Amino acid sequence: MKGLILSGGRGTRLRPLTYTRAKQLVPVANKPVLFYGIEALAAAGIRDIGIVVGDTRPEIQAAVGDGSAWGVAVTYIEQDAPRGLAHAVLISEPFLQREPFVMYLGDNLLARGIAPFVDEFLKTAPAAQILLARVPNPERFGVAELDGDTVVRLVEKPREPRSDLALVGVYLFGPGIFDAVKRIRPSFRDELEITDAIQALIDRGETVRPHVVDGWWKDTGRLADLLEANRLILATRGRCVEGDIDEESRIEGDVVVARGARIRQSVVRGPAIIGAGTRIEQAYVGPYTAMMNDVLVRGSEIEHSIVLEGAEIADLANRIVDSLIGRNVRISRQPAKPSAYRFMLGDNSEVGMRW
Ligand code: G1P
Repeated sequence: MKGLILSGGRGTRLRPLTYTRAKQLVPVANKPVLFYGIEALAAAGIRDIGIVVGDTRPEIQAAVGDGSAWGVAVTYIEQDAPRGLAHAVLISEPFLQREPFVMYLGDNLLARGIAPFVDEFLKTAPAAQILLARVPNPERFGVAELDGDTVVRLVEKPREPRSDLALVGVYLFGPGIFDAVKRIRPSFRDELEITDAIQALIDRGETVRPHVVDGWWKDTGRLADLLEANRLILATRGRCVEGDIDEESRIEGDVVVARGARIRQSVVRGPAIIGAGTRIEQAYVGPYTAMMNDVLVRGSEIEHSIVLEGAEIADLANRIVDSLIGRNVRISRQPAKPSAYRFMLGDNSEVGMRW
């Protein structure tokens, strides 16, 4: 069994961050989303992984390397443009060589990994096995219609969904999928949809097994989902305080403070994670906050947020919540007159004011 991780795409829903970084490398609990996928495949016993990459190839390759950090061998497969998930399968045929494979979307996270699904697939050998999750907003996903245990129909982003069962971004395929992806045409969004290719299998009477996942599942393509994934993972990280904490500070609950972090006259209330080289001074860091390395928070309060490397947050009058703050961003109170907001924001940035 091989693995195929899709790590192309433009990440338009996470702009402006994705102008300068692949969406699959945005960290959840201080670890790139993509690494969770690689770990899930490795834990399911998969050693040979193809990663489909686009414009962000150099960055993905620099982060993942040859896969030896996970005990796997990684092959990079270049997709010239985001032409759809089925197109990614098409161009990966020389790598996959008609072996059964797991296709894993690089921005997806699954609480319990994929090992049981791989076992089930290998035991039953269907043409395809799909994972489904109940969601409140199925129109944002591929949606499955079931009749008992049989998949009747799959529709990509239906305007009027016939069920609340979304296609999770993890699929298991036998070699029949290669003929199916060659039979379909581009969709309304001009992509070759894997949803249509699986429907093509169903139309030929081949077996497509559904499996409704019982743990949580997140597609981290949007800020709210990214923050939720961050919350779910932080809640499992426990406590490990290795940084330098002064006597005037309190570290409450499940907090990970990396060696080399410095906390002075502050309160950090978990679940939270603080990266190496980060300084927190006269500040409050509240639950569900993940701070990467070399961040500075001084005289400010923040919670339920993700802060990337090198950001500085200083002397703010109000607490920051529900935020994603990019690398080297500076947010500070300025004494200069007139007292006004002063911004230098990238294209597609979002700012929410209290008044
Ligand atoms: C893709 C698939 C969709 C699936 C989703 C899961 O959507 O096309 O069927 O439900 O991933 O993350 P996209 O992220 O391309 O909008």
